[in-house]
Amino acid sequence: MPLIGVIGCGRVGVSAAIQIALKDLGDLVLVDIVQGLPQGEALDLSHMASILGIDVEITGSNDYRDISGADLAVITAGVVRKADMTRMDLLQKNTAIVSDVSEKVREYAPNSKVIVVTNPLDVMTYVALRKTGFERERVIGFSGLLDFGRFRYLVAKELGVSRSSIVGPIIGEHGDNMVLLPRLTHVLGKPLTSLLPREKIGELVERTRRAGAEVISLKGWSASHAPGAGVALMVEAILKDTDAVIPSSVYLRGEYGVEGVCSVVPAVLGLSGVKRVIELDLDDYERREFLKSVEVVRQAQEAADKLLH
Ligand code: LAC
Repeated sequence: MPLIGVIGCGRVGVSAAIQIALKDLGDLVLVDIVQGLPQGEALDLSHMASILGIDVEITGSNDYRDISGADLAVITAGVVRKADMTRMDLLQKNTAIVSDVSEKVREYAPNSKVIVVTNPLDVMTYVALRKTGFERERVIGFSGLLDFGRFRYLVAKELGVSRSSIVGPIIGEHGDNMVLLPRLTHVLGKPLTSLLPREKIGELVERTRRAGAEVISLKGWSASHAPGAGVALMVEAILKDTDAVIPSSVYLRGEYGVEGVCSVVPAVLGLSGVKRVIELDLDDYERREFLKSVEVVRQAQEAADKLLH
């Protein structure tokens, strides 16, 4: 059985653990600094698995030694944003937290793949990459599935077709500058741009950008069910070596003409982590939007670099 460490036992960490357990992808160790919390969540989850007849081992710990030999580490630790904050407002605090967690992952799970979930997502992926010292293929940022899932939800309602029939890429920052690509999003070969008027598409894109904040303002805290589901799909792709193409934040090394920035791009995921980055044929407008988004992350990475020195 593979071993999966989930670092951070807040709502997102627990939701990811639930979804991973339901898919029976491996044994789970939940780690948090709060005494009792990971142990209690692990016990509750073990009871859940028992009811469902799933023989997965789920334990909780305050000690990173318990992720020793993990195949995968899912980093969800960090402070979450309030309604009036942007994801970037979290940069300072979460850089310190993710930096610390990453050092522990390097020490105790040196051969693991890492999925980063903490915000600001792309910058935290960069911080984890720097502090684990792992090759870029093994440090992968979550978020593309979340943002595309939100877009798909809106588009499906508008078109009256099933959600799974809508396929498309998303690139750029997990934030205000995320880039949806309606021209490349399609329903069985029919592009969205020929199915909906331009203004309607613009409206759905804008709602998708604001969806995270909308959830926070309604329920009072950050989304967790949707992130958990998306994380489990990434874990599945990696541990089952499926080669699924999943929008993931990856440290770019020349792809799309970008060097040294983490950004969401379509990535082939399997046992070694990111097996390949897929380069889309962007038109001029899409490319400009993408590069603008990347520039925002580059500047935030520089801010994180200063904090790490
Ligand atoms: C969201 C936050 C968690 O998009 O980034 O819901």
